Order: sequence, then structure tokens, then C-alpha cells
Amino acid sequence: MNEPVDMAPAVPGSGGAPLAVRRLVLTEFRNYRRLRLTPEARPIVLTGPNGAGKTNLLEALSYLAPGRGLRRARLAQVARRTPRVASAENASPASVSETPWAVSATLASPQGPVEIGTGREPPHTGDAPTVEKRLVRIDGMPAKNQGELARLLSVTWLTPEMDRLFLDAGATRRRFLDRLVYGFVAEHAASVSAYERAMRERTRLLRDGAGDTAWLNALEANMAEAGVAVAAGRRQMVARLNQASQNNIGPFPRPAVTIEGAVEQWLEEMPALAAEERFRERLHESRRRDAEAGGAELGPHRSNLAVRHAGHDLPAASCSTGEQKALLIAIVLATARLLALDRGAPPILLLDEVVAHLDETHRTALFDEICALQAQAWLTGTDRALFAGLEGRAQFMDVNAGDVTPATIGAPLEGRT
Ligand SMILES: Nc1ncnc2c1ncn2[C@@H]1O[C@H](COP(=O)(O)OP(=O)(O)OP(=O)(O)O)[C@@H](O)[C@H]1O
Ligand SMILES: [Mg+2]
Repeated sequence: MNEPVDMAPAVPGSGGAPLAVRRLVLTEFRNYRRLRLTPEARPIVLTGPNGAGKTNLLEALSYLAPGRGLRRARLAQVARRTPRVASAENASPASVSETPWAVSATLASPQGPVEIGTGREPPHTGDAPTVEKRLVRIDGMPAKNQGELARLLSVTWLTPEMDRLFLDAGATRRRFLDRLVYGFVAEHAASVSAYERAMRERTRLLRDGAGDTAWLNALEANMAEAGVAVAAGRRQMVARLNQASQNNIGPFPRPAVTIEGAVEQWLEEMPALAAEERFRERLHESRRRDAEAGGAELGPHRSNLAVRHAGHDLPAASCSTGEQKALLIAIVLATARLLALDRGAPPILLLDEVVAHLDETHRTALFDEICALQAQAWLTGTDRALFAGLEGRAQFMDVNAGDVTPATIGAPLEGRT
């Protein structure tokens, strides 16, 4: 059982504060039965052994942004499993999946404090099974959709799984880019899901050969409208990133970024309405082929985010592991700088096991940039010595078996060289 860890005064009542989580409560979330933290607005270093709950804590924070969180988990997986349920061979799946969980937070932001609550509600008795949906409350009121979160705050993360971002299939990079866009275009999340929904429905209709032309026309019109909005958001983001990356961030490499795709190309050549019309025509023409292939042959779901190391003039995929990590960090930091200018506050940064890959020069530069941005970055690692450069500038916390306590000052650093 976790006792409250009070490390800071209450949330300031006035606006103008940098964006920061000032109160965080997890209930039945992964290995946390209940956790209550009241962090300060500055960076937070979470250290602890493997399996302690560091990534789980960052995952909880990632639900303050729209989407499926940093693990892209199903909502039922997130609910805390008791050892009995987790290990029982014959445990009924329902006994796991019906468990509610919640993340609730108070944020300080340039617009003033805001309360966010999110989680999975227990199904009501008699409810028909429906698509899983995460519920969001803002200042106590149910939000219309998760996209409303993007209007209030932005959260950006880097996880060890993203180390393969430049090597993986295009979908991972598209998702990464889309998440960056959320910070600048609050409707982007809604456009992405409207596009995907219409595309899924069209594929289903084509597969079933239902021949409902009016319905197909309507779905293709939706795909064209949402698809052009998605492509436009991505193009703007890429342009912003390249602009911001003209100046190096300390020793970090300069990324040169492009988005390659048919719709993005049309937006280069014609106004958005004409691109929408072209997209609609092309979808109409490709119905037969799309029916055979089981998906749309063309659209922003096929676009590719290409990243090059500008200094080496090499594709990111050809760079060393450390260079790829540094490129990713450079993109995240450039976005944070842009957001600080655009929204008056940098995003909340969730940096899971990021420093272990970096040499001391890059580590120091990362810490200095986080502090210069005044970003509330949550950094994790197993070795506190690697965070020595943040001593005095961050709060250090120990994570152990689903418990988070203020770190004992000095003790874990004794072995430092
Ligand atoms: N739904 C769940 N209910 C209960 N425990 C869970 C659930 N999902 C994951 N866990 C457990 O939570 C523990 C902490 O996981 P987490 O990934 O946060 O560890 P970590 O501190 O990041 O470790 P590492 O340093 O290895 O990355 C793990 O032991 C994991 O098995
Ligand atoms: Mg982890």
C-alpha cells in the first residue's frame, strides 16, 4: 500500500505555470493497486530494479494524451491482475477484463490548473459487448472524445521499443509522426480515427460485395476529407520540424525529414479541395482492385516518414544504434521547442530508459535542454548514477514493487565514478 508522497506545495491557483503534472493518482493500474504522487513541476527521475513499475508509471501518464498509451495496450490488459487471477490457468477472461482502472491527474498549465480523469469503466450489467473505449473526464465533465485532451496538453514519449523506429515498417513511423502533430493540430487525432474508420468500413463493404453504391460513395468522401486533413497535418509538421532543426541542439544530429505519399504530393501541387476531389476519384476507380487486395491501394495509411541524418547525409536506418537514438531525441526536443513557442509550454516528456544509450556528452546535453525548456520530463532507468547530471535540478524517486518513494539522497550514488 502506498502512502501519499507529498513533495511539493499544492497546485498554484494562478495561470501561467509551465505544463506539469502536480498530482497523480493511479487506481488498479498494472502493478499499482493505488498510488498517489504530488510531484513538483521540474524533471523527475524514476529509478528502480527491473519489473518495479517504472514503465507502468510512464504508461499511466501517456493516457493523459489521446490514443492507446505508450504500450498500445488493450484496456483490459492495463487493469491490475492479482497473482491469483494472473496465474490461475482456468481464470475466466471476464474476471480480468472487467476490472476497472483509473488515472487521475491535476495539471498546472499556462491556462491554469486542470483536472483530468481517465480509465475504463466497469461494464454495466446487461450491456451488450461494445467496442472498448477509454473514458475521459476534464474538470469533472465527460469529454466528447479523447481529442479534447490534445487541446489541454501534449505528451511526448520515447520508449525502448521505439529504438527500431527507423528500421520498422512504415506504420510505426506514421504513428510517431501523428502523435507529434496532435500537439499542433488538436483535431488531428479525430481526423486519423475518422479516416481509419471509413477505410475499414469501405474494405468490409467491398469484401462483402454488398454493392451499396451510395454508402460506398459516402465512405469514400469521408476518407478523402479526413485523409487530406491527415496528410496536411503531417506535411505542416514535417515543415516545422525541418525549420526547427536548422539549428543543432547541442551535440545531437540534425534530422532531415520528409513525408512521402500520394496525397501529400497532391497537396504540394494543388489546393486541399482539389486534392480531396482527386483522392475521391482515385478511390472510386480502384474499387475492384481494392476489393481483391482487401484494402485501399492509395492514401495516407501508406505514406512513409523518411528521416535522414543531415550531417552524414545518410538515411537514419543506416546510422549506428546510438545515432538513431540521438536522431529520435533530436526530433522530440525540436518538437518540444516548437510547442514551447506555439503553446507557451513544452510537452510533458516521458523518456523511458533513454539515457542508457547515450554517452556522457549527449546525456549532459539532454539534461541541459530539458532544464532550459522547463519541461517536466519523466526519466527512468535502473542506474541512478547515470542521472548524476540532474542532481539538484530534478526530483529523484525510487520505484519498487509498485511503490514510489522519494529517493534517499546520496545513497544510490555512492558507487559513482
Ligand atoms: N496488468 C497488470 N497487473 C499487474 N502487474 C502487471 C500488469 N502488467 C504488467 N505487470 C507487471 O508490472 C511489473 C512492472 O512492469 P514495468 O514494465 O513497469 O517494469 P519496469 O520498472 O519498467 O522494469 P524494467 O526496468 O525491466 O523496464 C512487471 O513485473 C509486470 O509483470
Ligand atoms: Mg521499463
